[in-house]
Formats: sequence, structure tokens, C-alpha cells
Amino acid sequence: MKTAITELFGIQHPIIQGGMHYVGFAELAAAVSNAGGLGIITGLTQKTPELLAKEIARCRDMTDKPFGVNLTFLPSFTAPPYPEYIAAIREGGVRIVETAGRSPEQYMPALKAAGIKVIHKCTSVRHSLKAEKIGCDAVSVDGFECGGHPGEDDIPNMILLPRAADELKIPFVASGGMADGRSLVASLAMGADGINMGTRFVATKEAPVHDNVKRALVEATELDTRLVMRALRNTERVLKNKGVDQLLEIEREKGASLKIQDIHEQVAGVYPKVMVDGEMDAGAWSCGMVVGLINDIPTVKELIDRVMTEAEQIIRQRLTGFLDGTGAKAPTRAVA
Ligand SMILES: Cc1cc2nc3c(=O)[nH]c(=O)nc-3n(C[C@H](O)[C@H](O)[C@H](O)COP(=O)(O)O)c2cc1C
Repeated sequence: MKTAITELFGIQHPIIQGGMHYVGFAELAAAVSNAGGLGIITGLTQKTPELLAKEIARCRDMTDKPFGVNLTFLPSFTAPPYPEYIAAIREGGVRIVETAGRSPEQYMPALKAAGIKVIHKCTSVRHSLKAEKIGCDAVSVDGFECGGHPGEDDIPNMILLPRAADELKIPFVASGGMADGRSLVASLAMGADGINMGTRFVATKEAPVHDNVKRALVEATELDTRLVMRALRNTERVLKNKGVDQLLEIEREKGASLKIQDIHEQVAGVYPKVMVDGEMDAGAWSCGMVVGLINDIPTVKELIDRVMTEAEQIIRQRLTGFLDGTGAKAPTRAVA
């Protein structure tokens, strides 16, 4: 399949693995890129720019295909040295950066001077248009369903994607709620040029996280995510667990006077406890509603091949079948 996104990034399939804290290590990024998608190393999981440089080198040892690095600009307890991270990306020869959180405007000159293609992940049409204006090459449009930070507008992809398609000139991928060939075909139908998956990639063999995390994703349903930190306007969609229940209780007690310090224990330092030690009740970690569509732990290649085969069958059989009169009996899922 060729789309504006496969052409822009020089990849085989229009599937991107979004940056994920403590998940997006070289192993996962390389597996996604080797399977024909675009793998992304999560920059800030590496505690220093020097460690990011090593992670990039490790990824390069595992794949000769294009891969990217995610740079997230979110409120944090201590601000990271972004220019040094960008230098590590440039010197590591990485030519694709996924930015997320606040606008990457102040770093665009440095990224563009290094010949880097920038895909900015954002949760609204107005932020997407801003990304286009400041010179981003593409955007990842992240609907309300998404794991992580869905913003504060609460617009799901069924509305957000066609709205983005009506306004944007640069290519975009649909992000949030994507799991299979049905997601890809629906996104293409709504004007996107590919998909970005987060949560679905965590439940793969190569994702370098504790087995408890993968099992929890298989067991959870679409009813098991919660929104936290709304009062701080830093909303995050997370998987429900005991730590998240405590967090929500504190949020109820504090109401509008909530401060980040009030929930420090439930949000700070949680990722290593969950992803490395498998402590599933440690607190808030990102997870999308798409968890309800995750029923297995395939290899990354099995997953990507399945998405592409299923998408092709839906287009060729079910959709064209509707037009030539044979579609009424076509299964909604070509591949079980
Ligand atoms: C465990 C986890 C950690 C994430 N960490 C980050 C991150 O550090 N930076 C970022 O830009 N997005 C992060 N995301 C968001 C993903 O890149 C992606 O946009 C999102 O998962 C898409 O929604 P989905 O989970 O429904 O596929 C994270 C998502 C998950 C599931």
C-alpha cells in the first residue's frame, strides 16, 4: 500500500509506532521498522542525551530501515535539555522526529537545519493547523480514545479525522483506538494517510516490558481506562488499577484546588515500576480504550502483516463487494 505517509518516510506500510515512555526502546522500534512500519524510540525515556545516542546506535545495529525518535514536551518535575537531545538525534543520523505535547515551534529551526522530517502529534484541528504553519511535514491526529494525553477537547476520531482532512494540506495519520485492518481502512476512508498505534504495540512479543503488562492488556476491556489529571489540564488516559483508584479519590477530595504535588506518589516514577518490575497497581500509566480490541500477544511482524492483510481484504472484498452487489455477505473481519 502506498500513501503520502509511506512516501514521506520511505516505509513499506502506513503504520507508525508512537513514542511510549519505558516501552519505546530500540528493540520495539527496530522490530516495527523491520516489519515495514516506522518504529520510534522514546527520547526522554533515556535519562540523558548521551544515553539516547547509545539507544539510537543500538537501534541502528538492529535495523537498516528508517526509524524515528519521539520528543515529548509536557509539564514535568524537571525540564529536560531538549537542544542536547536534538543534537544526539542529529548526530545519530536519525531523520524523523515525532514531537508531542506542546508545540515544537522553538525547536523547528534546529530540526529542519538537520534535515529532519517532523511529525507532530496533536489532539485538535487548530493544533494540527499550527503544526502545518510552523513547517511540520505531517501530523499524527490523536483522538479522545487515545492512550496517553488526549488533550482537553474530548473529540473522538470519528469527528476529528474528517475535520482534520477538511482543513490540512500536509499528510496525517490517525492515532488513538487503532488496532487492526478495520482501523486502518476506516482511517483511510476518513482522509488519513495511515495509522499510529501505541497501546496495541505494547502487547507484542518484542515490546521490552514485563509480561504482567502484556497480560493486563489482554485481560482488560474497553471499559477499563480512566482519565486522570483533568483538573490540572494535563489529562491522561490510563489503565485502571489500585494506584489510579487512589489518585481519583485524591482528585475528588481536592477538586479544583488539586496540585501536581498532591498526586506525586501516583504519577511520578510509575513507569519503571510497571514496565520493568510488573507492579500493575503502582499508579498512572497510559493505556487507550483500544485495549478492548487486544486479545493476543503476537510478534510485531505478525501484527503488522495481519493489519495489512485484513485491510486489503476489507477493501477488495467487503467494500468493493458493496459496489458490485456481493458485499452483503462479506465478513467484517477477513482475518480472525
Ligand atoms: C504506555 C504508553 C506510554 C506512552 N508514552 C508516550 C510518550 O512518552 N510520549 C508521547 O508522545 N506519547 C506517548 N504515548 C502515546 C502514544 O504514542 C500514542 O499516541 C497513543 O498510544 C495512541 O493511542 P492508542 O494507545 O489508542 O493507540 C504513550 C502511550 C502508551 C500506551
